[in-house]
Amino acid sequence: MGLGRGKISMALLLLTSFCVEIITAIDTITSTQFLKDPEAIVSNGSIYTLGFFSPVNSTDRYVGIWFNEVPVVTAIWVANRNKPLNDSSGILAVSKDGNLVVLNGQQEILWSSNVSNFVSNSSAQLSDTGNLVLRDNNNEEIIWESFQHPSDTFFSNMKLSANKRTGEKILITSWKGATDPSIGSFSAGLNRLDIPEIFIWKDNYPYFRSGPWNRLVFIGVPYMNSAAVDGLNLVDDGEGTIDLTFSYANQSFLSSFVLTSQGQLEQTRWEHGMEDRIVLWSVPKFDCEFYGRCGLFGSCNAQASPICSCLRGFEPNNPEEWNRGNWTSGCIRMKSLQCERVKSGSEAAGQNDVFLKLGNMKVPDLAQWSRLTEIECKDRCLTNCSCIAYAYNSGIGCMSWIGDLIDVQEFSTGGSDLYIRMAYSEIDGNHRRKVIVMVSAVIGTIASAMICALLTWRFTSKHRARKEGGEKLHSDTNEKHPSFLDRDMTGDSRDHVKLQELPLFSLESLTAATDGFDLSNKLGQGGFGPVYKGKLSDGKEIAVKRLSRASGQGLKEFMNEVEVISKLQHRNLVRLLGCCVEGEEKLLVYEYMPNKSLDAFLYDPLRKQLLDWKKRFNIIEGICRGLLYLHRDSRLRIIHRDLKASNVLLDPELKPKISDFGAARIFGGDEDQANTIRVVGTYGYISPEYAMEGRFSEKSDVYSFGVLLLEIVSGRRNTSFYGNEQALSLLGFAWKLWNEGNISALVDPAISDPSSQVEIFRCIHVGLLCVQEFPEDRPTASTVVSMLNSEISYLATPKQPPFAERKHHFNEERPHQNEEKCSINYVTVTVVDGR
Ligand SMILES: *[C@@H]1O[C@H](CO)[C@@H](O)[C@H](O)[C@H]1NC(C)=O
Ligand SMILES: *[C@@H]1O[C@H](CO)[C@@H](O)[C@H](O)[C@H]1NC(C)=O
Ligand SMILES: *[C@@H]1O[C@H](CO)[C@@H](O)[C@H](O)[C@H]1NC(C)=O
Ligand SMILES: *[C@@H]1O[C@H](CO)[C@@H](O)[C@H](O)[C@H]1NC(C)=O
Ligand SMILES: *[C@@H]1O[C@H](CO)[C@@H](O)[C@H](O)[C@H]1NC(C)=O
Ligand SMILES: *[C@@H]1O[C@H](CO)[C@@H](O)[C@H](O)[C@H]1NC(C)=O
Ligand SMILES: *[C@@H]1O[C@H](CO)[C@@H](O)[C@H](O)[C@H]1NC(C)=O
Ligand SMILES: *[C@@H]1O[C@H](CO)[C@@H](O)[C@H](O)[C@H]1NC(C)=O
Repeated sequence: MGLGRGKISMALLLLTSFCVEIITAIDTITSTQFLKDPEAIVSNGSIYTLGFFSPVNSTDRYVGIWFNEVPVVTAIWVANRNKPLNDSSGILAVSKDGNLVVLNGQQEILWSSNVSNFVSNSSAQLSDTGNLVLRDNNNEEIIWESFQHPSDTFFSNMKLSANKRTGEKILITSWKGATDPSIGSFSAGLNRLDIPEIFIWKDNYPYFRSGPWNRLVFIGVPYMNSAAVDGLNLVDDGEGTIDLTFSYANQSFLSSFVLTSQGQLEQTRWEHGMEDRIVLWSVPKFDCEFYGRCGLFGSCNAQASPICSCLRGFEPNNPEEWNRGNWTSGCIRMKSLQCERVKSGSEAAGQNDVFLKLGNMKVPDLAQWSRLTEIECKDRCLTNCSCIAYAYNSGIGCMSWIGDLIDVQEFSTGGSDLYIRMAYSEIDGNHRRKVIVMVSAVIGTIASAMICALLTWRFTSKHRARKEGGEKLHSDTNEKHPSFLDRDMTGDSRDHVKLQELPLFSLESLTAATDGFDLSNKLGQGGFGPVYKGKLSDGKEIAVKRLSRASGQGLKEFMNEVEVISKLQHRNLVRLLGCCVEGEEKLLVYEYMPNKSLDAFLYDPLRKQLLDWKKRFNIIEGICRGLLYLHRDSRLRIIHRDLKASNVLLDPELKPKISDFGAARIFGGDEDQANTIRVVGTYGYISPEYAMEGRFSEKSDVYSFGVLLLEIVSGRRNTSFYGNEQALSLLGFAWKLWNEGNISALVDPAISDPSSQVEIFRCIHVGLLCVQEFPEDRPTASTVVSMLNSEISYLATPKQPPFAERKHHFNEERPHQNEEKCSINYVTVTVVDGR
């Protein structure tokens, strides 16, 4: 074997003061062109280096990959982890059988890519994504790649995959020590694939879990909120494979996740010119975060002392140990459940079990997932004695638990509501208020017989005319049994509310109108719940929005909001006709728009032809007028917070009508610019300040409007660019074309019409002004209307939109942001919303 000396002479030679001495400009290793310590190769774009290195304080030599720019070699991938070279005679080559191998001076194989099939001609290339790819040159097939065999680092472009069917997973594994790359005790990757979460294992036992992914964050780590969105995403390919991805458009932002030898998963980055990586945040950070800290049925609260307590209705399994602060043996149930007593036949009569609501919880491990609505979720758990707890999250669906509850935490904010089954006698008078569900699973007791009689009476009197949907109503009414009600949940009875002008629909009439909320009548799923088409008995068509979750407001406030919003009238707003509140059900009734929503036109190859430029311009202008009315002309100054193509409905003349306005308000009761914990809205449309800091204002709506405008002009979804390396968003693409003076390339071919070019370009210009990064730079809705009409002729030069490059701005004045603060960086919103 001879080294390709000729190639080296052409090569770019670089000398650094560290381990690497020669770097060739070649990025490929073949059977004739191999690497000999201390040579290295660099990926085409000079981002990654593959070569020989020694860890700090070590003389052992390893083959690894590192970021080319970073001054101190810090390997993000290591080949011969467990078998270091003890001198500098190492060679990285492609062997005769086609494998990539690391050889020592004695030509012994220390490491091999271990591909079993013989390949006569293969070569390994270090790509610009940091992936070392071994290809069969005869058919260009990839036979091995380093991304499938990661070390301790999860970095940009990589995927940590897991397969539901085969159970195969790609894991990262920690080093043994800070200076020893051999495989250590910790590993990390995806787990619980029905509702995936990130796990860290220590010696194959769970060590930390993130809680399930709700399509935005992992819900078990509240402080991870923005940081996790920062480039992390979960993608389900629909065929059983789930990929955890982490991506940045700008690779010079050297960020990665590292699993340290101490078992911490750290998000790190290099500050320019720095020798060490900065830790942005890490888990597990707090004592409570270690898996199962408080044992079975224990709950951990970092603010409490001691941190562990038993869940209500449970007591320490071993009180002596427990009191000494050894919580490993957990807790046991104090009073057996009625469910169990009935099963064992030991005690026939008694009060039925109840569910206790615990707020702000990290939900337990080992949830069973089902695609049910919140109400169905509760019903399902209620009627099944094995179900001892349930929780519902709109981004996940229904979670229920059988058996043991482990790894439960209580947070001071955030987290989920968790409902736990317990014996009725556990609940003293004060706590009965909190019990929201009465289990009606057992028949034969006096109590339930009485309730049944009551229900039957109510059912027959109220739903005499109904045929379908009766069951659901039956169990809903069930919850109305007065002594078990949580007053906060159901509030006063609706009879007490004074209703002036607002039409009030009965649940009965709406259920009938929608055939019992039949799936075939479902028009779509909005941010606050599904929308159904319905037909009232007088033949009038309506759209019914079933709010997915009880709002935090009392009934009166809710009704007030609805009433006020129903008074908003503008030709570009969908009319709210009335509402319905019964039990936990809250429904809004809107006028029905037969033409569906804008996205159904814009992204449909045939229907989009109906939208010529003039129509599109009218739509853009109409939306903006509607928005202006909400922001300025209505007395309320309503901020929409979820403006997007699917929330713009078209009337028969294709005039736009904004829907879903005021929903955020009905939901949250926030009025003006405010900070909210929960970000509503849709990825791709949310302004950066809202996504990251929860700050919203009229200008956040203007931002969403700008995105929508660019979508209308280009005929492309903002999110359709995901995965495209050139431009990671519509904004990025538009910005690039704008700077290249090639903005016509953005325009939907379906509307390209030379005569309206000036107007189209002007529109794009306005769109770019709307999506500027800082709210103060963006125009108001009223300025936008004037700009669109050319009442304002001079348009400022737009500044770069956020998310265009996914560049991470760290504020120069605050170079050492602490871990919490890092959540203020730029969120790169990459998740593709279903609608
Ligand atoms: C290397 O990158 C340049 C542009 O950056 C490209 O033209 C060239 O084809 C690349 N070479 C290989 C081998 O990928
Ligand atoms: C390397 O050795 C120096 C001096 O003994 C020590 O201060 C430093 O912490 C060591 N570094 C690592 C990463 O162990
Ligand atoms: C290095 O390792 C080889 C075997 O892998 C051994 O034969 C040799 O003696 C070692 N050299 C030193 C200096 O330890
Ligand atoms: C390759 O396979 C051999 C034998 O099956 C095994 O001992 C070795 O650990 C494997 N090496 C790698 C890097 O997987
Ligand atoms: C291996 O494949 C490469 C690319 O197809 C070709 O250039 C080279 O000549 C081949 N080598 C051998 C030994 O066949
Ligand atoms: C990426 O970011 C770096 C520094 O943050 C910047 O200098 C560079 O121009 C950016 N690259 C691209 C392609 O935008
Ligand atoms: C805690 O209790 C468990 C179970 O009884 C026991 O195995 C363990 O040694 C105890 N740990 C300590 C630190 O006492
Ligand atoms: C109760 O739930 C368990 C676990 O989900 C399931 O196996 C069982 O079939 C259910 N029982 C009934 C009666 O639905």
